[in-house]
Amino acid sequence: MARILGGITTSHIPAVGKAIEAGMEDDPYWAPFFRAYPPIRAWLAEKKPDVVINIYNDHGLGFFLDQMPTFAIGAAAEYCNEDEGWGLPELPPFKGDAPFSWHLIESMVAQEFDITSCQELAVDHGFTVPMQLFWPEGNHPPAIPISANTVQHPIPTLKRALDFGKALGKAVRSYPEDIRVVILGTGGLSHQLDGERAGFINRAFDEMCMEKIVSDPEALTAISRMELVEKAGSQGTEFLMWMMMRGALGEVRKLSSNYHIPISNTGAGTMLLECV
Ligand code: DHB
Ligand code: FE
Repeated sequence: MARILGGITTSHIPAVGKAIEAGMEDDPYWAPFFRAYPPIRAWLAEKKPDVVINIYNDHGLGFFLDQMPTFAIGAAAEYCNEDEGWGLPELPPFKGDAPFSWHLIESMVAQEFDITSCQELAVDHGFTVPMQLFWPEGNHPPAIPISANTVQHPIPTLKRALDFGKALGKAVRSYPEDIRVVILGTGGLSHQLDGERAGFINRAFDEMCMEKIVSDPEALTAISRMELVEKAGSQGTEFLMWMMMRGALGEVRKLSSNYHIPISNTGAGTMLLECV
């Protein structure tokens, strides 16, 4: 049966993709961010997952305001990246695992999560930047993208995100193949890119979220969506991806954690949680 090895969170800021392209990892501005990744890369090299489930929020490349699925799962043989206007280099297509995708979709719908299945899906920086951070050589396993809506209200509640993750965990563990799976939750932490509060970052709230996501994720479901926007900023709602990832894991131990502000406009958090 399939097994979940652990979960990894990271911010997915486009400027990070530019820093990778320019080889600026050791630059004084970037070093406190990039130092989070070598221990995670070493863990991945040791554990050798067969598949990565990449939970991210599309920002308008794969879906737009005219068609906005609340939860979408990729079911393609490969996923293409496209130019989003950030000036990032376009990356080669990412190999998928369609049979595993269809198992996840079947299982999620059977568990009454009526997700959107995508046999074609362009993946944006929310998906690609974390893949580059964790597998800088490009030697990543096949990937399954899962996107949740944080673009157009109403967005999912924190409870729904955690429940989605719990159902996803069951879906993975019921797959009969002996594969080892790692789950990414990308985005966040606090940031707001537009409006009067542009540039807003909330370290105290981010640190509380990073602690509770390990020790007591259920407690975070008491936070309303309005409160999440207020405390984390309008794009800080990407924390929902962390909740989805966390729900799938069950009991965990934290192997590494890093927080640094600011990276571009964002409180950048990175964590490695291993399933026990
Ligand atoms: C930034 C952060 C994001 O999560 C994003 O999707 C785009 C930009 C930023 O901080 O610049
Ligand atoms: Fe984002």
